[in-house]
Amino acid sequence: LVQTADPISRTSVSLVKTIASPGRGILAIDESNATCGKRLASIGLDNTEANRQAYRQLLLTTPGLGQYISGSILFEETLFQSTTDGKKMVDCLREQNIVPGIKVDKGLVPLPGSNNESWCQGLDGLASRSAEYYNQGARFAKWRTVVSIPCGPSALAVKEAAWGLARYAAISQDNGLVPIVEPEILLDGDHSIDTTLEVAERVWSEVFYYLAENNVMFEGILLKPSMVTPGADHKEKADPETIAKYTLTMLKRRVPPAVPGIMFLSGGQSEMEATLNLHAMNQSPNPWHVSFSYARALQNSVLKAWQGRPENVEAAQKALLTRAKANSLAQLGKYSA
Ligand code: 13P
Repeated sequence: LVQTADPISRTSVSLVKTIASPGRGILAIDESNATCGKRLASIGLDNTEANRQAYRQLLLTTPGLGQYISGSILFEETLFQSTTDGKKMVDCLREQNIVPGIKVDKGLVPLPGSNNESWCQGLDGLASRSAEYYNQGARFAKWRTVVSIPCGPSALAVKEAAWGLARYAAISQDNGLVPIVEPEILLDGDHSIDTTLEVAERVWSEVFYYLAENNVMFEGILLKPSMVTPGADHKEKADPETIAKYTLTMLKRRVPPAVPGIMFLSGGQSEMEATLNLHAMNQSPNPWHVSFSYARALQNSVLKAWQGRPENVEAAQKALLTRAKANSLAQLGKYSA
């Protein structure tokens, strides 16, 4: 199979450009029901469908969100859900020129034969599920697998992570969905930033090796990497300039400029850290659009403001806009605290 110089359809190219557009990034609200339950529990709410609906409705109907947010990753339940007044959640997004996306992986399970590591399930039936998601309005997809530094990572775990991402990406493109490729290198551990750099280089070189082997069109994918930081329990913290230098060095060594966008995850960083690090990364021109696809770093203060009370919805939406605007400015390299 030979790739031509005009590799993917115009729709995919313009879609990727819409998602990776200046001053905008992705709002990730694709927590599985179990993870969403943990977020709701943090403000004393039960993990019911009605509470998840109320929370996602609050987020997706925030007035003015589309100015800062270009795409939103949904969990399957939300993709097929409507607001309490009967409007499809995907229509709330489309009205604000926000592209609906869908988490398509089926989560992590133990990887036998490894060093207590995990692998990501979800390839079986993925083509037919992707076609259904497309019909329901999704235009991009996400698959998150994880790599653990304290557990190795073993060569087996890295290979499995890379192969799964590549198969998923090929299947997504075949079904009209732009794949977000996310091998999350967990923050857990007391390792140095140099160790993270070494592991991230190993992971991304393997990911691109298998993406190429699976004939994935690089012009039609987005990446969702972890930033290169010291482990969460390392004795010294790194400042945003150091994190930006390490992260961009790693990406420039491993990611071809054909890839249109890098949309970072926040991975447990505070809201402010995630914004400042993104700002530092946009202080000079990059070969790709460098932006955000945050879940926790966009939602933490929203949950706190909401507390599950209808009378707090407006304040919670304001909190979301504040974080979205800060990260929009950081994407442009123009944030000041
Ligand atoms: P965080 O930004 O909370 O790490 O979420 C990342 C993610 O993969 C959600 O889609």
